[in-house]
Amino acid sequence: MRIETLQVGENFVYVLAVAGRAAVVDPGVADPVSAYLEEAGLTLELILLTHYHGDHTGGVVALRRASHDVVGPAGGSIELDRTVVHGDSIDFAGHPIRALAVPGHTTHDTAYYLPEAKALFTGDLLFACGCGRMFERDSHQMWGSLCRLRNLPDDTCVYGGHDYTLENLAFAAHLEPDNVAIRERLKQFRADPAGTMPSTIGEEKRTNPFLRCDSEAVAAAAGRRGGTPVEVFAAIRGMKDRW
Ligand SMILES: [Fe+2]
Repeated sequence: MRIETLQVGENFVYVLAVAGRAAVVDPGVADPVSAYLEEAGLTLELILLTHYHGDHTGGVVALRRASHDVVGPAGGSIELDRTVVHGDSIDFAGHPIRALAVPGHTTHDTAYYLPEAKALFTGDLLFACGCGRMFERDSHQMWGSLCRLRNLPDDTCVYGGHDYTLENLAFAAHLEPDNVAIRERLKQFRADPAGTMPSTIGEEKRTNPFLRCDSEAVAAAAGRRGGTPVEVFAAIRGMKDRW
């Protein structure tokens, strides 16, 4: 399986390709996706949605055809061919894709995990070195969802929904100035700003403060030494919102 990243402004759209067949994740726009599919000689079979914000779904109406499926969680106004819940498996060209419920950014956020390809599509729940804002759920649920993703194998490739990497890295370095892995990641980013995605679960565990709320360093930076991970998460999410 080949995974292509299409960047449109700060949005990422991902195209999965197997032997001329394609699936697309969160097509916020249609034209760049159509152009890529045509150029690559791919036939679209499946559209996967992580949640229902317009910048992830804006291209669905133009892209959808009777011959393929639009799959996503409940909670949106887009007509789905299949509604997924946590633990569901979707087949794409013989490859299983597991739906993982990760509420936090919205009520129905869903991540898609491909164990064979070691790939994880996280929508607006998890970004490179950051996480989404909590629009519909609370810190308790968001932290639980981040832990669900953190428990996947370290070599799982993480494909997030947006490129907020520079500001995320700056915030992470502000919280943990002594974290060598964050300094190294910042250096790599400056050398290759286009190489943001994918990262890996292992890299996020070392550098993403929102996956490190049970570390002493992040708790201290949040002014919550001895606090629970949820309290630490709430504190740094609030700090980031005002950053
Ligand atoms: Fe969103």
